[in-house]
Amino acid sequence: MSSLPVVVVMYTRKKTEKCAKPKLAKSGSAQLCLAIDERFLGFYALYAPAFLVFDPDLIRDVLVKDFDAFQDRCIPFDDSEPLNQHLLFLNGSKWKRLRSKLTPAFTSGKLKMMFETIDRCGREMVEVLDDAARSEKVVEIRDVSARFTIDVIGSVAFGVKCNCQRDPDAEFRVWGRKLFEFYTSDRVEQLLLAVHPPTAKLFRAIVGRKEVLKYFEDMVRDTVNYRESNNVERNDFMHMLIQLKNRGFMDDENELASQAVLFFSAGFETSSTTMSYALYELALNPEVQRRLHQEVDETLQRTGGRFTYDAVMGMPYLDKVISETLRKYPPVAFLPRKTTRPYQIPGSKVVIDNDMAVIVPNYALHHDPRYFPDPERFDPERFSEEEKTKRHPYVYLPFGEGPRNCVGMRLGLLQSKIGLAHLMSKIEFQKCDETKIPIEFDPLTIVFMPATGIHLRAKKRSV
Ligand code: HEM
Repeated sequence: MSSLPVVVVMYTRKKTEKCAKPKLAKSGSAQLCLAIDERFLGFYALYAPAFLVFDPDLIRDVLVKDFDAFQDRCIPFDDSEPLNQHLLFLNGSKWKRLRSKLTPAFTSGKLKMMFETIDRCGREMVEVLDDAARSEKVVEIRDVSARFTIDVIGSVAFGVKCNCQRDPDAEFRVWGRKLFEFYTSDRVEQLLLAVHPPTAKLFRAIVGRKEVLKYFEDMVRDTVNYRESNNVERNDFMHMLIQLKNRGFMDDENELASQAVLFFSAGFETSSTTMSYALYELALNPEVQRRLHQEVDETLQRTGGRFTYDAVMGMPYLDKVISETLRKYPPVAFLPRKTTRPYQIPGSKVVIDNDMAVIVPNYALHHDPRYFPDPERFDPERFSEEEKTKRHPYVYLPFGEGPRNCVGMRLGLLQSKIGLAHLMSKIEFQKCDETKIPIEFDPLTIVFMPATGIHLRAKKRSV
């Protein structure tokens, strides 16, 4: 599971114990005592005191009810880097202004317009796998899924036909991988930024951040220039970003480039790991896969052999499979927040200081047997309407919650569903000698992902 760089739990007290000064302060050992009831605890992330909340009602307060006190993220970043001025990192009024401008990009109307593009990429993925599936070869599905989602996000965010599926060495894939390596090394950089900012700058120079960002900056600049000088209008994010820039809602082209790069990095890896984990579980649970094949076949029979937006979004079993995948493997393992004012925890005397990290551990919630009995079992029926109503809504948070939740949730779900539906329509996946069971996870990445590839046998279905 990905986690904060270093976490030291400093104090654990029982609910019944009284704390003389129940306040978690930034300094002053006399104040470093905190009552832990089962709802929260204090800990140190390196030298900085931080707060972990695990009571679902308190999580609702943090994410939604008292959002004004927790609207910022506690992700340290280099403010002087223009491409860091994006939705994930920005805080305060800058974040608020940008969020309200970018949210309309993800309405269901906009997603319906993107359906054709995503569907085309899904068809291509199956065509590319056809030979391997006919000869029942072992395929590395993380790569297959990543090439699909890069093609999708490249088209919708940058307006570029990336061709990553037919050409594994396509430029966009190569630079996309580098971008992600660089975001992963951001973990180290964040740690350095917290401890020693000058070393962080040196580290950044060494990992080649400039080269990677320059590629994306140039690509955005070329696309904007080309579109503006040729009056090209397309139904994609790039068009919306250009409109926002021309209406003065974006400060400059750098701000536009930051959002495009963020959409790309936040958009492809999260959805492709979701698809990979889903395929892995389907291979390990053939009965679940059989039911999904059946649902896909029935849907295609009804629609005359082609997927439509409504058909894909209206497949209940596919929805359950994706939901259970996101429970067991949430790509973002915890939600980082920061207090913007002192906050007294309701029902306690504890006050959290201003400017303090507050963490919602969604991976831990998703694996808590009180909410999800036998949590390592993959069981899509946990997401039947009946089971869902039995659970507190704030114990399942794959996309976060409240005004700062994932802005791309609908697109993430749509592309993962379309990708899986296409694969299921033609291919059966089986575990094989090369499949690592259980999966080993990479502890350093920002997206919760496997340490190695996921190998499965692909077998053409006789439908
Ligand atoms: C299965 C796919 C995805 C998952 C599981 C996921 C998950 C998340 C999570 C957990 C957060 C933090 C929410 C919080 O702090 O409450 C987040 C934020 C964000 N995500 Fe996603 N995401 C996915 C796909 C996407 C896509 C496709 C895009 C865009 C193309 C996207 C763009 C963003 C952005 C911009 C933010 C920051 C929002 C803000 O701070 O206002 N995500 N995502």
